[in-house]
Amino acid sequence: MTLAGDAGRTKRRGGSGPAIPAPSAQNLLRWYDRERRDLPWRVAPGGRPDPYRVWLSEIMLQQTRVETVARYYERFLARFPTIETLAAARLDSVLKLWAGLGYYARARNLYACACEVVLRHDGRFPDTEEALRELPGIGPYTAAAIAAIAFGRKATPVDGNIERVIARLFAIETPLPAAKPELRRLAERLVPDERAGDFAQAMMDLGATICTPKRPDCALCPWNEVCIARARGEAEELPRRTPKSEGALRRGAAFVVVREDGAVLVRRRPREGLLGGMTEIPGTDWSADFDLRNASRAANRLIPFVSAIEWRRRPGSVRHVFTHFPLELTVFVASAPKETEAPREMRFVKRERLDGEALPTLMRKVVAHALPEDHQT
Ligand code: ADE
Repeated sequence: MTLAGDAGRTKRRGGSGPAIPAPSAQNLLRWYDRERRDLPWRVAPGGRPDPYRVWLSEIMLQQTRVETVARYYERFLARFPTIETLAAARLDSVLKLWAGLGYYARARNLYACACEVVLRHDGRFPDTEEALRELPGIGPYTAAAIAAIAFGRKATPVDGNIERVIARLFAIETPLPAAKPELRRLAERLVPDERAGDFAQAMMDLGATICTPKRPDCALCPWNEVCIARARGEAEELPRRTPKSEGALRRGAAFVVVREDGAVLVRRRPREGLLGGMTEIPGTDWSADFDLRNASRAANRLIPFVSAIEWRRRPGSVRHVFTHFPLELTVFVASAPKETEAPREMRFVKRERLDGEALPTLMRKVVAHALPEDHQT
């Protein structure tokens, strides 16, 4: 019997604790044989899958929940039992049956794909990932799923569920999406030579029913003894994710004034809006079209007692990612005599008191960037 690939064998698994054995594909397949979800597009164990049905299910399952697809799948097959009946239909009637499933480009591609398979491939789906990817509506994930499930090819569909399983199994700390290539490599090494389609579906079931994003049911997992994240008690924390930043990069400048007695000039942010009411280093607005050449004018306006020539620009910049946009701040530093008074709506705070201020992480980064000598540990 083929054992799992050599995933994890090259390094001592689990770090410095007791060695953790490599995950075995056979363990997962035995679990799948007992616990697999009974889904309308699955054939009985040992049965021969119909590529048309596998393809239809995989297209329907793109961005759509299993429970929703189950309701549409049988109805669609009753009307279009073969690829020839689908290709012979009018697009209109296909769209009607699709109504409610959403993402209607899928239905148009489904129809185009059926026509192409009938006209160019004699009604038979090609049986390799590469050839499947040439067809309308079939991307890398769907091609791998069809190749594995319908044709038993050693292909590895990797979606978010499967990434989660692998990230936990190997305790991959690299955040997504950067971890994707590594997760894929590890997943590929687990695929057995036989039953690649069942293995793919077993991974899908494991991710959907046991290795869930929140409160995974590790006690029931067939791989619980080989899961490094579980051994470390961090299954629920993985995979890590780099915060999504959908917006365009914004830029600005921050002006750090340090008085001779070491106090730093701060102000309070407006109560409403981002970081509302928190303490900040004075600076410009943050915008996508910020122009650094305007920084000294802004500094003059905000902090008139420091002349333009006294500002020293710190090399580099401070980067921070908010939920809706990434930010890059250029930091300027100036010194002020001991008796200097803060401008209106600003105040000087002693360095040792800054920690007790409502200073957000971004502003802590700004201070550390401005005064690196204070932050050596
Ligand atoms: N998600 C995508 N393809 C699937 C399949 N074949 N079974 C269950 N969930 C899936």
